[in-house]
Amino acid sequence: MDHFHYRDRVLFCEDVPVSELARVYGTPLYVYSEATLVHHLTSIQKAFADANPLICYSVKTNGNLGICKVVCRHGSGFDVTSAGEMHRAILAGAPGRKIVFAGVGKTDAEQEQALRAGVFLFNVESEEELHALGEVARRIGVVAPAALRVNPDLPPKTHAKTDTSVKGVKFGLDIETVLDVAKGVVGHPNLKVRGLHMHLGSPILSVEPYRQGIARAEALIPALRAQGHHIDILNMGGGFGINYRKSEAQPAQAFAEVIVPAVLKLGCSLVLEPGRFIAGNSGILVSRVIYGKESGGKKFVIQDAAMNDLIRPTLYDSFHRIWPVAPAPGFPAPPEDHEADIPGADPVDVVGPVCESGDFLAKQRRLPPLRRGDLLATFSAGAYGMSMASNYNSRPRAAEVIVSGANHRLARRRETLEDLVACERDLG
Ligand code: LLP
Repeated sequence: MDHFHYRDRVLFCEDVPVSELARVYGTPLYVYSEATLVHHLTSIQKAFADANPLICYSVKTNGNLGICKVVCRHGSGFDVTSAGEMHRAILAGAPGRKIVFAGVGKTDAEQEQALRAGVFLFNVESEEELHALGEVARRIGVVAPAALRVNPDLPPKTHAKTDTSVKGVKFGLDIETVLDVAKGVVGHPNLKVRGLHMHLGSPILSVEPYRQGIARAEALIPALRAQGHHIDILNMGGGFGINYRKSEAQPAQAFAEVIVPAVLKLGCSLVLEPGRFIAGNSGILVSRVIYGKESGGKKFVIQDAAMNDLIRPTLYDSFHRIWPVAPAPGFPAPPEDHEADIPGADPVDVVGPVCESGDFLAKQRRLPPLRRGDLLATFSAGAYGMSMASNYNSRPRAAEVIVSGANHRLARRRETLEDLVACERDLG
């Protein structure tokens, strides 16, 4: 479900023609629909309502302040993984008690900053980190609330680069070590171990891994309690998948049916850290065709968005739907099946201007005829799009705009050539 739709062969975001946004703000341009963002956040809130969860939007997904403010206004907390993300969450208006802090490499300075901000929970990923947190808390005279992040050692679920709960990745505590680590801090005056955390990977298209993860939690939580820890939080992380290709994702309700009864039975309160589910289909990347060319028997469409703007296809071979903003007659709207044979739509590689063969948004994709100056929309780009963008090839990063009904507001201006060198010193 999203608010990007074609009316008379023109793509709209809510009530605004996307071509109008490209005219006003230029390309490449990230366009977000506020209604879509709110719809997805609300659907999680509703599905999990019986567990009265703390939903913490994962800032790494899309940290634009405008986006963070929208979800904050609608009741979300934040999952952060660095001092920078915490800064964004606080600027967006979140109180510390609605922030959870994950990550394998929190520095002492970050831990102190988070303790002073009064964050709700540290998701602790190693024994050394747990003791370091206790030490920082002792030094500043507070008690740190901690959840132990467990790697539940489940079968592979997603791309190897984003699977976080298989053996041998850097995340969390190996499941067989959790009790030993916890035992070492029973009665620690500055640490309160009050939860278990697991983030299984991203994106996950089935509820099964959550069922398996919950089963691990059901075994561990009573054992932690028996050690003397007052465990009252289960944090199931994020990971809920979205429709990239077609209708392939689960509704929030399906995950809730697995997670909510278990959490209630365990007598825990629930924390969730969804990112992609909220932001993914809320955004598109709009680009403009610069040239077409043929090489080695293949057709290429060279447009002005590149791997520095959206690195997911390059990094994970990810599939993003692409379609012209104003398609030629006969191609009114994107097909349901983007891999189907569409008469008149030739397979093309959609590439950007960056000097790498790995710079592409799509390979051998069937698209209607395109000419110089045509606009393209790359869909489902709201999550891990702009947040992973870089200045590679000294390309200024794109602008971002948020649409709400018939209104649009610039949420981040396009970077300038001056911005590119602003942090550098002229050494003469
Ligand atoms: N919680 C933790 C501890 C995480 O590490 C992540 C994502 C999330 C929550 C949010 O996961 P989500 O609900 O968005 O699936 N760059 C990759 C995805 C990396 C995910 C990193 N961690 C991509 O573009 O697919």
